[in-house]
Amino acid sequence: MGPQGSGKGTQAETISKKYGLEHVSIGDLLRAEVASGSETGKIVEKYMREGALIPMHINNAIVKKVLEKNKKILLDGYPRNREQAEFITENTNPKCIIVINISEEESITRLSKRLICTATKKIFIEDKITQEDIQECEKQGGKLIKRDDDKPDAIKKRLDIYNTETKPVIEIFKEQNIPIINIDGEKSIQEINDEITEKLKPYIEN
Ligand code: AP5
Ligand code: MG
Repeated sequence: MGPQGSGKGTQAETISKKYGLEHVSIGDLLRAEVASGSETGKIVEKYMREGALIPMHINNAIVKKVLEKNKKILLDGYPRNREQAEFITENTNPKCIIVINISEEESITRLSKRLICTATKKIFIEDKITQEDIQECEKQGGKLIKRDDDKPDAIKKRLDIYNTETKPVIEIFKEQNIPIINIDGEKSIQEINDEITEKLKPYIEN
């Protein structure tokens, strides 16, 4: 968990590989649904573009399918409200919750500079991207894009939802004695990666 741009996707990509977990980003699954052009995708697109949460029945169906397939999962971007938190504790047994914290100013700065490869879903920073990164993405048949919801109005709405609906969920997990790992998300990507790797060990390796 963590506010928009805190690095959930960036960290989940490498942490999941280190620990042999499946990285499940609900946002990526929803974007794939939109790209498929399905009827559900058309509904999802409208919500996502505005930065609103997708209705429960759509994303819970996606999460349920994922949970049935694999039990060793690193969930990125779920749960985001009380109902989803209840769905998770009813349907699975979370080992721990990682919360990456950053300020609102940092969220806005990062999201305005984010680029994503459409083929690999790899995440980049606009002013740090290299020629090699661009070529690798193109080699995989993708191109580098900005997300539709990384626009000022949608970012504001997403941050509001995080503060009012998602953040309180952390308290629900605390009450249930599910371990919470708090991470300062304003360090370097590598430092954060090392810290998460270290703090996750006790929960994964036994
Ligand atoms: P989702 O795709 O999950 O978006 P989000 O929660 O808004 O989070 P982001 O993906 O924007 O940020 P991130 O924390 O992954 O940061 P990243 O690693 O990319 O969800 C999108 C939408 O889908 C929602 O708004 C909603 O509509 C829908 N949705 C999703 N889940 C849902 C649910 N459960 N229920 C209902 N609807 C749902 O990093 C950001 C940038 O910062 C990158 O450029 C990166 O390179 C850079 N960066 C990362 N770490 C650092 C660092 N340490 N220092 C400097 N730069 C860094
Ligand atoms: Mg993400």
